[in-house]
Amino acid sequence: MIMAPSPLAANFGRLAAETIRVDKARADWLHLDIMDGHFVSNISFGPEVVRVLRPLTRLVFDVHLMCSRPEILLIPFAEAGANRIIIHVELVDRVTPLIWKIKSLGLKVGLAVNPPTAISNAQPYLDQIDQLLIMTVNPGFGGQPFISEMLPKVQQANTWRKERGLDYRIEVDGGINFNTAVECARAGADTFVSGSALFGKRQLKRAVKRMRELVKPFAVERKVADKDKVPVAGGVG
Ligand code: DX5
Ligand code: ZN
Repeated sequence: MIMAPSPLAANFGRLAAETIRVDKARADWLHLDIMDGHFVSNISFGPEVVRVLRPLTRLVFDVHLMCSRPEILLIPFAEAGANRIIIHVELVDRVTPLIWKIKSLGLKVGLAVNPPTAISNAQPYLDQIDQLLIMTVNPGFGGQPFISEMLPKVQQANTWRKERGLDYRIEVDGGINFNTAVECARAGADTFVSGSALFGKRQLKRAVKRMRELVKPFAVERKVADKDKVPVAGGVG
């Protein structure tokens, strides 16, 4: 089970210190929300911020592109130190070339599905992706309430994974706190993005540990788990 705090909820004036705080909290990934003010009605940060955070930690950088033109951003984020890049299925006919471009850069690829989008739209890509991200809020802002109507999508993604013998991760993002993380884990999720619920806690290490303990009982044996946790070379340590 992967813990992936999102510093979108962190103090932006102290992003470097907050990144080190996540590292010390023994999280697994750092989920970096990239918003372009077009695909979503908010703007966050770009490749330069990711580049300066890279040497501070060995955490896996999970870069979530909520962008209308990800094509122009893949190489800058790869060079900045991204390990995984997530694009949205709502990009429709550009999804396949984007998946192969991300893979050609040697990175893991994720596909995100927004709340109004049917999970069946992701089906054609399931054997090409490393993670399926089910948005449990409408993208664009942290601190929104969890949309429980998304749980059947998590169950469906888990059923397809079993039926087809695939090994993509099932990631949930938006409104993930101790309670909703358990609901998602019960439905089949194994990768948990959390911003305000974790960064809102003064004891981040204790909060990450607690969320991990709460979802652990739902973990299923999967042959590929370990490779998703390998700390990144070239970072601190
Ligand atoms: C929203 C982002 C999320 C967000 C989660 O568009 O994709 O990663 O930061 O924040 P919380 O956990 O506060 O909902
Ligand atoms: Zn995100």
